[in-house]
Amino acid sequence: MMNPANQTQFIDQGLASDPTNRLPVTLTINGQAYPLQLESRVALLDALRENLHLTGTKKGCDHGQCGGCTVHIDGQSALACLTLAVMSEGKAITTIEGLAQGETLHPLQAAFIRHDALQCGYCTPGQLMAASAWLSGQPPRTAAEIQEAMSGNLCRCAAYPNILAAILEAQGA
Ligand code: FES
Ligand code: FES
Repeated sequence: MMNPANQTQFIDQGLASDPTNRLPVTLTINGQAYPLQLESRVALLDALRENLHLTGTKKGCDHGQCGGCTVHIDGQSALACLTLAVMSEGKAITTIEGLAQGETLHPLQAAFIRHDALQCGYCTPGQLMAASAWLSGQPPRTAAEIQEAMSGNLCRCAAYPNILAAILEAQGA
């Protein structure tokens, strides 16, 4: 009898190799349409990174706990690891690659540089996408409100004081 681990692998391989399990999906990312053929189970995060090589969106936990995969969907902050790619069709997806306007950095990006708000930088795209969605069009917030709103974005390098300083500055920009 096949053990459960091998059975899972067998099922996964079967799905991956069967083109009938794929659906036509067009994702609109940073203003550009990307037609894809994807299995219905593929997360937006994997479609971005593996299919489209938009690797700025980071895979940290892959379980909705670190915020590293934060993108914008129709202007709202969303975790790409918990979002099915097929459910994102017809929506405006923005990734870190689309945050700057050409050569002009988003005010948060510029503030992160000024405040040295990163060490390894792995969490930085998620921090920027979460903060930019949250601050967009909103009145300035207190430090405590920012810390609460950003509590879902973890930084293993503990750059939190500099991240907070950058957001405090950028929200007035
Ligand atoms: S990779 Fe999505 S929340 Fe951690
Ligand atoms: S800068 Fe390294 S995880 Fe945040």
